[in-house]
Amino acid sequence: MKIPFFSWLFLLPICSLFVNFGIFVLSGQCLHDQRDLLIGLKTNLIFDNNSSTKLVHWNESLNCCLWKGVTCSEDGRVIGLNLNNESIYDGLHKSSSLFTLHWLVTLDLSTLSYLSDNMLKLEDPNLAKLVQNLSEIKELYLDGVNISAPGNEWCQALSSSVPNLRVLSLSDCHLSGPFNSSLSKLQSLSIIRLDSNPFNAPVPEFFVNFTNLTSLHLGFCGLNGTFPEKVFQILTLQTLDLSNNELLQGALPDSIGNLAMFMAKNLTEINLSHNDLTGKIHSLIWKDLPKLVNLDLGYNSLGGNIPASLSSLPSLQILGLSNNQFSGRLEFNVPSTLLITLDLSSNNLEGPVPTSVFELQGPKFLSLSSDNFSGPFQLNKIQQLRNLSNLDLSFNSLSVEYIETNSLLSSFPQITTLRLASCNWIWKLNNLLNLNLSDNLLEGPLHNLSSTLSLSILDLSSNLLQGQLPTLPPSAAYLDLSRNNFSSVMPGIGSPLSVAYFLSLSNNQLSGSIPVSICGAIYLEVLDLSDNLLSGAIPQCFYEMGETLWVLDVRRNKLSGNISDSFSVNCGLRTLNLNGNQLGGVVPKSLENCKNLEVLDMGNNQLKDALPCNLKSISSLRVLILRSNQFYGSIDFTTKGFDIELVKILTIFTAIDISNNNLDGPIPEEIGKLKSLVVLNLSHNALTGHIPPFLGNLTQLESLDLSSNKLTGEIPVQLTDLTFLSVLNFSFNLLVGPIPQVKQFGTFTNDSYIHNKELCGFPLTTHCISYEAPPPTFQETHSNSGEIDLNFLSVELGFIFGFGIVIGPLMFWKRWSRRYFKHVDDILIRVFPQLNLGIKYRRRAARINQGQRH
Ligand SMILES: *[C@@H]1O[C@H](CO)[C@@H](O)[C@H](O)[C@H]1NC(C)=O
Ligand SMILES: *[C@@H]1O[C@H](CO)[C@@H](O)[C@H](O)[C@H]1NC(C)=O
Ligand SMILES: *[C@@H]1O[C@H](CO)[C@@H](O)[C@H](O)[C@H]1NC(C)=O
Ligand SMILES: *[C@@H]1O[C@H](CO)[C@@H](O)[C@H](O)[C@H]1NC(C)=O
Ligand SMILES: *[C@@H]1O[C@H](CO)[C@@H](O)[C@H](O)[C@H]1NC(C)=O
Ligand SMILES: *[C@@H]1O[C@H](CO)[C@@H](O)[C@H](O)[C@H]1NC(C)=O
Ligand SMILES: *[C@@H]1O[C@H](CO)[C@@H](O)[C@H](O)[C@H]1NC(C)=O
Ligand SMILES: *[C@@H]1O[C@H](CO)[C@@H](O)[C@H](O)[C@H]1NC(C)=O
Ligand SMILES: *[C@@H]1O[C@H](CO)[C@@H](O)[C@H](O)[C@H]1NC(C)=O
Ligand SMILES: *[C@@H]1O[C@H](CO)[C@@H](O)[C@H](O)[C@H]1NC(C)=O
Ligand SMILES: *[C@@H]1O[C@H](CO)[C@@H](O)[C@H](O)[C@H]1NC(C)=O
Ligand SMILES: *[C@@H]1O[C@H](CO)[C@@H](O)[C@H](O)[C@H]1NC(C)=O
Repeated sequence: MKIPFFSWLFLLPICSLFVNFGIFVLSGQCLHDQRDLLIGLKTNLIFDNNSSTKLVHWNESLNCCLWKGVTCSEDGRVIGLNLNNESIYDGLHKSSSLFTLHWLVTLDLSTLSYLSDNMLKLEDPNLAKLVQNLSEIKELYLDGVNISAPGNEWCQALSSSVPNLRVLSLSDCHLSGPFNSSLSKLQSLSIIRLDSNPFNAPVPEFFVNFTNLTSLHLGFCGLNGTFPEKVFQILTLQTLDLSNNELLQGALPDSIGNLAMFMAKNLTEINLSHNDLTGKIHSLIWKDLPKLVNLDLGYNSLGGNIPASLSSLPSLQILGLSNNQFSGRLEFNVPSTLLITLDLSSNNLEGPVPTSVFELQGPKFLSLSSDNFSGPFQLNKIQQLRNLSNLDLSFNSLSVEYIETNSLLSSFPQITTLRLASCNWIWKLNNLLNLNLSDNLLEGPLHNLSSTLSLSILDLSSNLLQGQLPTLPPSAAYLDLSRNNFSSVMPGIGSPLSVAYFLSLSNNQLSGSIPVSICGAIYLEVLDLSDNLLSGAIPQCFYEMGETLWVLDVRRNKLSGNISDSFSVNCGLRTLNLNGNQLGGVVPKSLENCKNLEVLDMGNNQLKDALPCNLKSISSLRVLILRSNQFYGSIDFTTKGFDIELVKILTIFTAIDISNNNLDGPIPEEIGKLKSLVVLNLSHNALTGHIPPFLGNLTQLESLDLSSNKLTGEIPVQLTDLTFLSVLNFSFNLLVGPIPQVKQFGTFTNDSYIHNKELCGFPLTTHCISYEAPPPTFQETHSNSGEIDLNFLSVELGFIFGFGIVIGPLMFWKRWSRRYFKHVDDILIRVFPQLNLGIKYRRRAARINQGQRH
């Protein structure tokens, strides 16, 4: 399988090879014939001159030995050509002068742009032709070049032409197998890098005869059969990467355990991960590998014990043994002080986690997850691992314990990911004041927290906690369990919350009715139950909660029943959000008691009422959302005295959304006086009359939606004064005439205007010439604008095209409106941050957290 990302990694060390092999830039004076060959080469190459960093700078009037990517011998012959990553496309020219640069010792045409379709290809001329007369080559880098040749071909090509080859780097070249024995002639090979080629064949025995081999990379090659284990004995060998193949037992059964005594002592890296290796690792094998830095045997089927000697390899930094069948107790004696990664996950290891694990000095990544480790585990021990950034102890049978100190969080400033399958240790945190494990991968149910006596701030939000909501800690002031998967409400919740001021359970799967016991939390300022599956009525006591409760958010649940007319006389609510439930009845009169209300969102319910004029007494109200209910009547406000009062309060209104109701009549003139209005949504009603020019007085307006009404006449040119307008929708009305083409109006798309009687001009495709014709009938309107709709639909909803003009607009509308409302909500949230609950309180909690840490 081709995995370009890995190929990238394989290529990274290439640059350093030049240093290893002592190619020095000698820069003699370029010989003329050599320069001409290079110019010929450049002329014939197809490359992206924009991303080129070498070829593009070759300048004929300069010594070619100084050109980027060119290396010369003292006598001016080109001996090195490095065009690595020069974005060379297609093939080489049939008479490319590359074939005649006879003195080349190093040739690098490797590329990192694998994803491009027209990458360099060696088809005709092929690899054989390229190297035919380049017999001096010692280092050949063609990684990423499409050579696409079978084993016999590429092996023969190399072995017959470049006998002195020391570096063979052909990763991801579409080479296939099997290896041809002629390759064994290349006795000087020191670095073999053939990752990501589909050989689908075994590694031949003759590899053991590459006696100068230091690096062998054959990852992702579909290698199968048994690996010639004597390769491990090549004395010069340092790096062996055979990962991600299908190699079978033979590489590591007992035989290799014996052989290990003779393993090359210079080995620094062994990666045999992702193979089919079986058997045990003999305890002797690792004794004599003083330089081993990286040992990865993960994702095989190895079994038996993990030998204690492994942990004492003096240079070991990375030990990966995950996803095998290692069993028994883990015994680490004198752990390496250098270890930075220890991954023993997904085995069958059992018994306690040895204390020596905590004596490791350096680990950043420690995973013991998905084993059978058991017994007590003292979380405090982790404090010794000062560099730890990732700890995974999940899926074991550990009983995690925590011995009281001050704050868990401040003890582990470095941990970014803490994963513990179960959190049932939390309740033992007797003296902890403040626990913030939010944005982790904590899983499983949370048990009774009522005995965590001093916990004041508990933030477990954004984890994977599930099951019943636990009894909450009685001392907690700030409790955030939002964004988890809790799935039912415990009846006892809240009864002990005698000091809590913030409780958020939003974004869970909580179902059933809201427990009245929450009302025992008499100091609550914020109660957020939004985005759950809660049903039944809103508990009576919610209405009666006194002046402390500022924010009540139950939006997007399944609450039903009427909104009770029992808001307390000292109601302190600033934000009441009931959006997206099944609440019926009328807007209760006692809502007037909430004199500080700033945001009232009752949208998307089943309220059936005349417009709630009693809200006029709430002078602080800034956002009123009644969208998608069944409000009726006209917004033609009726009595004189009322007008004046309404205008008074409405001048500080910043959003009105009474869309999707049954309102009729014209748009009242009073609205023109609401100078602070930012959002006005009257869509989906039955409003009649003209769009009043005075809407142009609402200079703060950012969103104006009058769509789906029965508005007639032209779009008043005064509206072009609304320079902040970013959302506009006049569609689905009976408007006529030209669309104003100035200022903001030039920026809206035809979504804003479609389905009117006879609107014309950009962005619609109807020209304005025939506009003065007598108004057509409704039917004609439909067919007149039909063409536009179809064009639009065919782009927006290609698949719906055949459904025709009647269904089309409906479906289109639904989908479009989702996008549209998102946009309006964005504006609202920007203008009224209180709509986005919790932010303020999170900050406050964060401040408290910090205070306690210092
Ligand atoms: C290089 O950039 C020029 C202009 O910047 C452009 O016209 C040309 O198509 C680009 N060439 C390639 C191969 O991208
Ligand atoms: C690349 O070549 C194109 C024409 O093929 C030219 O327009 C452009 O300027 C060249 N870009 C560079 C960076 O030389
Ligand atoms: C290779 O070329 C690409 C595109 O020209 C560039 O983004 C990338 O950084 C280059 N990589 C190296 C290692 O030079
Ligand atoms: C080539 O080098 C000469 C001498 O330094 C310089 O004058 C000229 O501008 C260069 N040409 C290009 C295309 O860079
Ligand atoms: C290699 O050299 C031989 C002899 O000089 C010549 O016949 C042949 O054409 C050369 N091959 C290439 C690809 O240039
Ligand atoms: C590589 O070249 C071969 C032969 O021309 C072609 O069939 C294949 O599609 C190429 N592969 C890629 C990834 O370009
Ligand atoms: C190696 O390749 C040559 C040339 O294609 C072929 O004659 C020979 O049989 C191959 N050897 C093996 C062992 O396949
Ligand atoms: C192997 O390496 C040694 C030391 O660099 C060198 O003397 C010897 O010639 C090399 N063997 C081959 C076959 O290249
Ligand atoms: C390795 O080389 C030795 C000595 O040159 C030779 O006898 C042996 O057959 C070779 N082994 C393989 C597998 O080619
Ligand atoms: C290796 O895989 C190839 C291709 O799938 C298959 O033909 C061959 O028999 C396999 N060899 C071994 C030893 O499994
Ligand atoms: C092992 O490495 C050391 C130090 O890099 C080197 O001197 C020695 O020659 C190497 N041994 C072999 C057999 O390559
Ligand atoms: C709109 O503003 C103009 C000028 O400020 C004013 O004369 C007019 O009465 C206003 N219209 C409404 C409906 O407020």
